[in-house]
Amino acid sequence: MSENNTFLTIITPNTLFIGKNYIYLDKCASTNSYLLDVLSSRNIAEGSLVFTDYQFSGRGQQGNTWLVEPNVNLTFSLVLMPKWLKPTEQFYLTKLVSVSLIQLLNSKKNGFEVKWPNDIYFEGKKVAGILIENSIQKSEITQSVIGIGINVNQKDFQIDKADSLINILDSNLDRKKLLEEFCERLEANYLKFKSDFKSFDRLYLDNLYRRGEIHWFESNDGKFEAEIIGVSNIGKLKLKIKDELIEYAMKEVVFL
Ligand code: BTN
Repeated sequence: MSENNTFLTIITPNTLFIGKNYIYLDKCASTNSYLLDVLSSRNIAEGSLVFTDYQFSGRGQQGNTWLVEPNVNLTFSLVLMPKWLKPTEQFYLTKLVSVSLIQLLNSKKNGFEVKWPNDIYFEGKKVAGILIENSIQKSEITQSVIGIGINVNQKDFQIDKADSLINILDSNLDRKKLLEEFCERLEANYLKFKSDFKSFDRLYLDNLYRRGEIHWFESNDGKFEAEIIGVSNIGKLKLKIKDELIEYAMKEVVFL
């Protein structure tokens, strides 16, 4: 597989709805923001996707930024409308998307894992990030904007803990094909998810970075050693500290 890192303008995924309707932008601030804007002004079909070759103000989790080299990576957002999922179950969307990415990447090379809550890692370095923004009205998840950044053909990074597929696989990847494959994988999983979303507990857990190992963490109470036991239904990290089981929300604990 190869491409010469030109624009990525047309996709033809073999799906029923994910990625069938899409908007390509040669540049935009953030595909999540763009899609949220479109959704606020008109009705668009579930599965609609926005992608760009140059995202100049990408947003990450917890107010962070997502900075990547233009024309060599994947930055895109799509919308799902899981109205049947309760707001208290919204973390399952994170499980669905993380598992879909992991399955796709592990089909290229084994060893991709999800670092809680939804960073995609390979050998201790981040390769992809997910930003999910849900809209909830009257106890329904009316729309879920799922934004994904995958470091594909970028070779150099400012930060130590980032890596890309080209470095891991030692080959230039076709971004169009990768995006189409992701749409196909996500759609197949979403159809399963609709009938049995709880089955994604196991799939997520099986791919969870550092699960079952003792590592250092830090919370407001200081540094401590703990074992990751799992992730609760609402997305809290379950840690075993000595013999006690404690659940932490996203901003309450960091990995050291
Ligand atoms: C993170 O790891 O902090 C999440 C990064 C998510 C980045 C993607 S790139 C496409 C979409 N648009 C954005 O502005 N952010 C997401």
